[in-house]
Amino acid sequence: MPKHPALRVGIGAVLWLALSATAQAQSGSAPPASAPAAAAPAGNAKAGQTLMTAGVPPAVAACTSCHGQNAEGAGAFPPLTGSGAAYLRAQLDAFADGSRANPIMAPIAKGLNPQQRADVSAYLASLPSGIARPATPPSGAKPGDAGAWLAQRGRMGDGVPACASCHGPGGEGVGEHFPAIAHLSAAYMQEQVEAWKAGKRGPGPLGLMSGIAKKLSSDDVKAVAAYYASRAK
Ligand code: HEC
Ligand code: HEC
Repeated sequence: MPKHPALRVGIGAVLWLALSATAQAQSGSAPPASAPAAAAPAGNAKAGQTLMTAGVPPAVAACTSCHGQNAEGAGAFPPLTGSGAAYLRAQLDAFADGSRANPIMAPIAKGLNPQQRADVSAYLASLPSGIARPATPPSGAKPGDAGAWLAQRGRMGDGVPACASCHGPGGEGVGEHFPAIAHLSAAYMQEQVEAWKAGKRGPGPLGLMSGIAKKLSSDDVKAVAAYYASRAK
């Protein structure tokens, strides 16, 4: 079983490079004239802030009414902080086109035009998540501590890399495509894992997370959520 920390960093770095190369390939070349809809508008965070608290009456309620005043999340409504604008925008697009099935978010996302989705994503990405990036990656997980073990080391025999290798050492999120997970409730995490297993949430970049989700049991998810919740924010 690979135990070397450099390996975990290696996996994260390779994936990150692969993703940024993909992003660059998408943004670096001139968009084909036939596909203007695919070009992502630049987000205006100021306009996004207004949208966040005012919504788009009458069809779209204020995001704060469910996700909290500072998008910190509340009950069944997940926090929206700690993730990159590209990730957030991709989620809004996915709710709108049905590739991420959710009856509450679908009409809200559909009620926003591409510019508004970009604006609100830019604003959300600028908010603090309250999750600290540890100065030294946490280590010392005991095999009996399933949550810490999965988060720090993964389950290599089963092809599950450490959550930390993609989501950051403290689960604080990395770059534009790897969302923060340390502040998610066990129930929300479980719902997402189930959605990937059932094909109700699209595979995401390179299918990285949908592949992992299929190998996570509900005990795994509970343990990881409890591990992050137990860490000082
Ligand atoms: C009526 C309540 C409600 C309102 C209003 C609402 N949301 Fe949501 N939102 C939800 C729920 C519930 C989910 C979880 C969906 C799921 O389980 O897939 C969610 C999920 C999301 C996600 C995915 C988060 C992630 O980590 O992947 C984003 C992004 C989001 N909402 C953005 C917004 C924005 C932007 C607004 C305002 C324009 C908004 N929401 C308004 C209920 C709401
Ligand atoms: C190989 C990289 C990688 C690893 C390792 C990884 N993830 Fe992910 N994860 C992702 C990516 C990429 C996404 C975003 C998927 C998308 O865009 O739909 C994601 C999204 C998620 C989400 C959804 C977040 C939200 O706000 O809806 C959860 C929950 C999650 N991961 C949990 C985990 C857990 C728990 C582990 C460890 C057992 C883990 N991930 C390991 C790449 C990874």
